[in-house]
Parts: sequence; C-alpha cells; structure tokens
Amino acid sequence: MKPDSDLSLLYGPAAVDLPRVTQLIGSVAKEPELEFLQKMLSAALSGTGKLLRPAISILSARLGTYNIELVAPLAASVELLHTATLVHDDVIDEADQRRGQPTPNSLFGNAASVMLGDYMFANAADFIARTDRPIVVRKFADAIMLIAQGELKQDSTAFEYSPDINRYLDRIKGKTAVLFATAAEGGALVCDAPETTTTAMREYGMNLGMAFQVIDDILDFTGTAEEMGKPVGSDLKSGTLTLPAILFLQKYPTENPIKRAFEGIRTNANLDKAIKDILNDEEIIAESKAVARSMCDAALTSLQTIPQCEEKQILENLVEYTFERNS
Ligand code: IPE
Ligand code: MG
Ligand code: MG
Repeated sequence: MKPDSDLSLLYGPAAVDLPRVTQLIGSVAKEPELEFLQKMLSAALSGTGKLLRPAISILSARLGTYNIELVAPLAASVELLHTATLVHDDVIDEADQRRGQPTPNSLFGNAASVMLGDYMFANAADFIARTDRPIVVRKFADAIMLIAQGELKQDSTAFEYSPDINRYLDRIKGKTAVLFATAAEGGALVCDAPETTTTAMREYGMNLGMAFQVIDDILDFTGTAEEMGKPVGSDLKSGTLTLPAILFLQKYPTENPIKRAFEGIRTNANLDKAIKDILNDEEIIAESKAVARSMCDAALTSLQTIPQCEEKQILENLVEYTFERNS
C-alpha cells in the first residue's frame, strides 16, 4: 500500500501525509477476530487506488488550520468509503477484476462481499467519528445515501431506452461526484477553513467528480482492460447508457444498434455492434470529451475565490490530470 513516487509530483505537499492515511486503512484489515474477514479485507485493500480523494481532502485541509490528527482519519474514511462502494459495485456489475486484481466477489462470492462492504462502511463511519465533528459525520452519511441512490437509479433503469442527458448527469452526481465533493469539503471543514473556501471546495469536488465519471465512461469505450485494471466495454452490455451512448442515440434517433439491442433481441452481437459504432464515431467521443472539459473548467472556476498558493496550483493540476487520464 505504498503510494508510488509520482504521487508526490501529482499531489505536491499532500503526498507526505498520504502514508499516514494508508497506515490507518491498513490497520482495518488487522482488527477483526474473524480470520476470513481479515483475509477479505486484505484482498479488498491491497490493490489500493491512486488515493485521489484522500489527497484532495488533505489539500483542502491545508487551506485551513492544518491538523493531521483530524485529516488522516477523514481521508482514510473517504478512501474506505470509496473502496466499500466499489466492493458492492463489483457485486452489482458481476465484475471479476479491479485495479488489476481479482475482485472480492470473484474470490469469496457475493454474499460474503456484501458483508465485507458493510464492514468497511462501518469502519469508514468509525474513522469519520474520530474527527469529532457532527456536521462532517452528517455530510458523510448524506454522501452514502446519495451514492446508494445513484447506484440504484442506474440499476433500476438498466436497458431502458432513454436518451436523457439530465437523468445521466443526476445519476453520476450521486454515484461519483458527491463523494469527491464530500472529500473536498470535509478537509476544509475539519480544519476550520473560511466558509468561502469550504463552499468553493465542495463545488470543486462536485465538478471534478462529474468530469471524473464522464472520463471513466468514455474510457469504458476507448480504454483497454490492461490500462484500466478492470473490464471495459461493459457499460452498454449491462444496459447502462452513459454519455457516449446517449449522444449516439441523440445523433441517430430512429435507427441505431443500441435501440435494436435494448428494445429488440438483446444479443451480444447487437451490443458489440453498438459499441463498435460508437467507438468509430469520432464526433461522439469528441463531444463526450467536450462535456468533460466543460466540467473541468467549472472545477477550475470553483477555485477562483481561493488565493493563489501551492495547494491551489496542485488542485488545478489535478483537474488536468483527471481530464487527461487514460487509466
Ligand atoms: C463505480 O461505478 C461505482 C461507484 C461510483 C459507486 P461503475 O460501475 O460505473 O464504475 P467501474 O467501471 O466499476 O469502476
Ligand atoms: Mg462497476
Ligand atoms: Mg456499476
């Protein structure tokens, strides 16, 4: 669980405190008396991600009166919460790979993975309670409720043929952007940053999170499983209309392979053809990227009221990193 060296380039002054966060997360796997749970936790926590959300919490906290004793549990809570949602998401999506590793559901089955996710949620709650700030605890509780609703909205509308961008935006706000917003706002809140900063950081996180998910959805079409460390091309196959697919439906409203696959016979051949058509349509991918760009620009604008400093520069760099990422 050691963040690699380019993390310090990417996260600047936040990188030195990330090991404190990974140490806290690592301690979670050692706590339970049940050995099977220890094993599952180690598996779920071993291939830790890029720690983007905790890094944002730390940068945001540095805009206030920085206190690592409060920020480390907050950042650990954010990452645990994120990882718990992924454990459950992989059950929902029947995914067998994540971050280049086998998923808990593929190793231990769905039932155990649901309980594993629950255990991690409870641990995230324990960490956030350590900040001793009821308002932050409430914001985390709100975030979990919104994430669950975002995932449910997606699952309950699978294979529904609806080229409605607003519905998509609402969904990704819930399932992804809210946690970025909470991570960003939480850091500023626990370190008593001015209210304008707290509000700015929430806006920043929300806009960045939206862009992050749009890029993720584009990469589901254009990326490779090796780069992404997880299966790609799976959104349409599981009946999820993401931005590229919605733009494709809007461009060809009457005759298109998605319509055929969603409303007619749902064969893999029909879905494969739809994926290929979208990939070959450069306009669709370019338009999807333009939407992500405008979200990135909104994230940059959110930072306007924050005085120029190294942290702000890094937060700006993270916007570009999110836009450019291909893994
Ligand atoms: C990720 O959703 C899970 C949450 C944001 C809660 P997706 O299913 O769209 O993402 P990947 O492709 O599995 O990472
Ligand atoms: Mg998934
Ligand atoms: Mg999913």
